[in-house]
Amino acid sequence: MPQATLHSARLKFVPLAQEHYALTKELDQDPEVMRHIGFGRPLTDDETKQVHEWLLNSPTSIPGQGTWVAYAGDEAIGWWILAPTPIDKDKPTENFSTERSETGYRLLKRFWGRGYATEGSRELLRHAFQDLGLAEVFGETMTVNTASRAVMAKCGMNHVDTWFNTYPTPPLGIEEGEVRYRITKEEWKAQTSGPQ
Ligand SMILES: CC(C)(COP(=O)(O)OP(=O)(O)OC[C@H]1O[C@@H](n2cnc3c(N)ncnc32)[C@H](O)[C@@H]1OP(=O)(O)O)[C@@H](O)C(=O)NCCC(=O)NCCS
Repeated sequence: MPQATLHSARLKFVPLAQEHYALTKELDQDPEVMRHIGFGRPLTDDETKQVHEWLLNSPTSIPGQGTWVAYAGDEAIGWWILAPTPIDKDKPTENFSTERSETGYRLLKRFWGRGYATEGSRELLRHAFQDLGLAEVFGETMTVNTASRAVMAKCGMNHVDTWFNTYPTPPLGIEEGEVRYRITKEEWKAQTSGPQ
């Protein structure tokens, strides 16, 4: 199944393409967007090119999954992802699960606080479970990334794990650890078929 075009009430999601590099670069070079991601600092030009190539190519290794750019009217507001995850975490580049996916998102700051991240993530979860038939979707972020945690919780994902890693160049706040949120197909169905 090729990567689909998706719609929510206010957003249209199209597969990320080479032409979206200006968007990924603007996101990756904004200190506030990157505060709780990676090294906790804006990326260099070389790093932004590598990220864009990864977003374009890696997530589509399982048909149907990938990175989407969302438009509100004519304006691109950010990207969302459904990324295949390895069956064996000790072999991160081979044997991807066809049942399980990792989600994430990055929005331009001028669009924050309007409910877009929640709206978009709900549509991605619908697509993951209803259209692609996945069994489970999870997301990870830094414990201190309150906004991202709120988005996952509002989408019905549950906090299932917290862990503490050490990194050579850690982002500020990493001492409070990282968290994983998860939702299964059964949980999603129970939430979406019940009273709204
Ligand atoms: C995380 C991010 C996508 C949220 O986008 P958004 O469109 O502003 O989120 P929403 O408007 O859907 O808000 C969802 C909830 O989070 C809450 N929220 C948003 N920002 C918040 C913040 N800084 N602190 C506390 N709560 C926050 C909102 O109040 C809302 O809850 P409510 O409806 O109960 O009030 C955006 O801040 C972003 O792109 N950040 C940088 C990239 C990033 O950290 N991505 C995640 C990495 S894993």
